[in-house]
Amino acid sequence: MGNLNSKRMRFFMALNAVIIITFIYASFSMKEIVPRRHVHSVRGFPMHHRIEQNIASKINSRNSSKNQGSTIGNNQHTGSSKKPERKAVSLLHSNIEAFPSISADSNELPEIVDIKTIMEIQPTVSSTTGRGSSSEQTSNGSSALPVLTPVLTMTLYEPGHLNEEIDIKRICMHRGVFLRLLILITSAQSHFSARMSIRQTWMHYGSRRDVGMAFVLGRTTNVALNESLNKENYIYGDMIRGNFIDSYFNLTLKTISMLEWADTHCPSAKFILKTDDDMFINVPKLLGFIDARYKSERAIYGRLAKNWKPVRAGRSKYYVSHKLYTGLQYPPFTTGPAYLLTGDIVHELYVESLNTFYMHLEDVFITGIVARTLKIKRVEANAFRNSRIALSPCKIRNVISVHMIKPSEQYHLWRDLLDSTIKFEPHSILQ
Ligand SMILES: *[C@@H]1O[C@H](CO)[C@@H](O)[C@H](O)[C@H]1NC(C)=O
Ligand SMILES: *[C@@H]1O[C@H](CO)[C@@H](O)[C@H](O)[C@H]1NC(C)=O
Ligand SMILES: *[C@@H]1O[C@H](CO)[C@@H](O)[C@H](O)[C@H]1NC(C)=O
Ligand SMILES: *[C@@H]1O[C@H](CO)[C@@H](O)[C@H](O)[C@H]1NC(C)=O
Repeated sequence: MGNLNSKRMRFFMALNAVIIITFIYASFSMKEIVPRRHVHSVRGFPMHHRIEQNIASKINSRNSSKNQGSTIGNNQHTGSSKKPERKAVSLLHSNIEAFPSISADSNELPEIVDIKTIMEIQPTVSSTTGRGSSSEQTSNGSSALPVLTPVLTMTLYEPGHLNEEIDIKRICMHRGVFLRLLILITSAQSHFSARMSIRQTWMHYGSRRDVGMAFVLGRTTNVALNESLNKENYIYGDMIRGNFIDSYFNLTLKTISMLEWADTHCPSAKFILKTDDDMFINVPKLLGFIDARYKSERAIYGRLAKNWKPVRAGRSKYYVSHKLYTGLQYPPFTTGPAYLLTGDIVHELYVESLNTFYMHLEDVFITGIVARTLKIKRVEANAFRNSRIALSPCKIRNVISVHMIKPSEQYHLWRDLLDSTIKFEPHSILQ
């Protein structure tokens, strides 16, 4: 009897496998045959109208002589409607490992995951501890110039996302009514292995009904890189891609793009964590943190930076001219690698940021300047460690975020976090 059952079971399992393989093959080949339609209309974007009106009225009230309202939705990249010829690459035969090599022979900077490199490009660490390193989210250093004169952010920001390949239902079902937490991870386009290591570790929590997760990236003019990102997104469906060119001085646009996406597709999420692709996030700890503050409103939690002064030395990447920021010090802000927003402020932050003079330091801009205008409270939360610290399993279980994590280290931290057989012994990941 049992023997017969197990034979049947084996037969059905084999049958299932055949059906699944056939199905997968069929859907991949469909993908090659059916031409992709590029619904890339910024005008069709639902938020667009509302925002344009809002902005136009604000501009008028501010009596700005600058190109009123004409810049929003004004697609500077008119060539973007050109459909790049899609190579008939069979995904069955190509493999995912091919992605990094594509970006390697592009103009992209190599992945900045090496701690020494991070230190070299962060000469001002003392004044700006714990600031983004994934920050090196640049596609071509030489064309990346900071905005040095005051210009309203709306004149730089183009709303909308490439949403075709994202699995919105998985990231944020029913516009977030079930979501306690939406984690949006800003990622540099070339950081393929950083994204993979996150997918294979703490992004696992995204499979929970009450947690949503996705990466946020920009746009590139590099066709090969673009194509590899399209493929990656076809497989994982977790990459939100905004309409700005991905570069270091556009990081603020990336955060705004993130806010826009959350506001448009996930307005009911209770909390939103903004973080970077070189972070380790202790999601269970973060959920506990949220539970203790479930009723809180209009707040940003994180590592609070108080009395920080603008860097006035010309060579720093944190350089800010007097013209751009006249004050002697920034308003209190939460440092960029990870901060938590209550869901109720996302829309306001988005709209107000467009009405604010642009600054490339996204944390100072969003959680400092814009949040102050909106009278949103910024709250110090000790468990956010937006810096790199020597970590023992004991420590990692007690913090929410750790900065400057190499892809390979994600796996150690993940194990240290969850493997209950690991005792609380000092074990530095820095060795
Ligand atoms: C707006 O600015 C112009 C010149 O820039 C000025 O002539 C005009 O009076 C201003 N209007 C208001 C309402 O302030
Ligand atoms: C960046 O772009 C400029 C032109 O826009 C080009 O001359 C330069 O070689 C590029 N740099 C890199 C590192 O690809
Ligand atoms: C973003 O950065 C690139 C290069 O640094 C620049 O050319 C572009 O105009 C910036 N803005 C947007 C909206 O992409
Ligand atoms: C990149 O891919 C997207 C999605 O297919 C497409 O809309 C866009 O035009 C592409 N851009 C370039 C520069 O190839």
